[in-house]
Amino acid sequence: MSDKLIIFDTTLRDGEQSPGASMTKDEKLRIARQLERLKVDVIEAGFAASSNGDFESVKAIADVIKDSTVCSLARANDRDISRAAEALKGAHRARIHTFIATSALHMEKKLRMTPEQVLEQAKQSVRFARNLVDDVEFSPEDGYRSDMDYLCRVLEAVIKEGATTLNIPDTVGYAVPELYGDFIRTLRERVPNSDKAIWSVHCHNDLGMAVANSLAGVKIGGARQVECTINGLGERAGNCSLEEIVMAVRTRRDYFGLDVGVDATQIVPASRMVSQTTGFVVQPNKAVVGANAFAHASGIHQDGVLKARDTYEIMRAEDVGWAANKIVLGKLSGRNAFKQRLQDLGIQMESEGEINTAFAAFKELADRKSEIFDEDILALCSDESV
Ligand code: KIV
Ligand code: ZN
Repeated sequence: MSDKLIIFDTTLRDGEQSPGASMTKDEKLRIARQLERLKVDVIEAGFAASSNGDFESVKAIADVIKDSTVCSLARANDRDISRAAEALKGAHRARIHTFIATSALHMEKKLRMTPEQVLEQAKQSVRFARNLVDDVEFSPEDGYRSDMDYLCRVLEAVIKEGATTLNIPDTVGYAVPELYGDFIRTLRERVPNSDKAIWSVHCHNDLGMAVANSLAGVKIGGARQVECTINGLGERAGNCSLEEIVMAVRTRRDYFGLDVGVDATQIVPASRMVSQTTGFVVQPNKAVVGANAFAHASGIHQDGVLKARDTYEIMRAEDVGWAANKIVLGKLSGRNAFKQRLQDLGIQMESEGEINTAFAAFKELADRKSEIFDEDILALCSDESV
């Protein structure tokens, strides 16, 4: 089995489905270029048949992106698939991602189709798409809530029609890690031609488990593609977050044993760009990209980090695109952190006694002010104050 994990970014498609996150063509193009700098393997640029605007965005992205595969979503019908293929004409590498729901609930209540009709439509659509591009992904929407025997029949059939990637969505974020991992593994074991396709996971975050479920799909299930978005943007509670998946697999390579081609130093710039473009603020304590992800406020932690960073850091801030780790000076900070900041600011103290006096003044100020900025320290240490 391949030891590379394919990173499929769907910020511009599923991410944009987040209420209030719609983006213009130029904004999407800017983000697509950043995703290319980030070196994601696949950029899902949009849903070409959904509107003329989306068609133009997918086309503009397909025309300029060279290093990542560019993908368009398409419902399982000839019109959607033709539109996707047309928008992707200029792409260096193009993928059509076609989908149809396979859960009993969706087939009966939403599609009003029988399972046999859905099976035929899935086959026919993949066949049609394969006549237009070599790279075809198939998703059984609401796959995780679908009947296992039926899903195996559908997946076996679409592989025969030439699907190159099979993506198993947990569309409503209902899965839990172990069960989702087992679900993927069982599918791979039971579908006779499963080795002819790459298996992919696509998890929503309704119960806050999108990343954990995706990792279980990889570790237990053997999936080799993860679908994810920058900052976990997406429908309702969002999708699996790209930054968390990438850094989990990289930081715990000892456990996952997989490589990712992403240039992690572009993660924070990508996060900021998506946040600024959509107006969706990143929570400060968000893993990897939150403002506090590498900030140390407690005196004990600050002292530890200054002595040896790995005492309280499992990743290096610079490796994901931050300038460096951040020691936030406040009332919990110790003398060591304060002394280090004096040095960083180029403040020379003649004696330990002088440092002690400045430190006492700093502590007194910190009791009144929650965060002490460099300007405060400069003022504190000016001749008049100390
Ligand atoms: O969540 C979902 O089921 C999807 C599919 C279209 C892949 O986004
Ligand atoms: Zn989705």
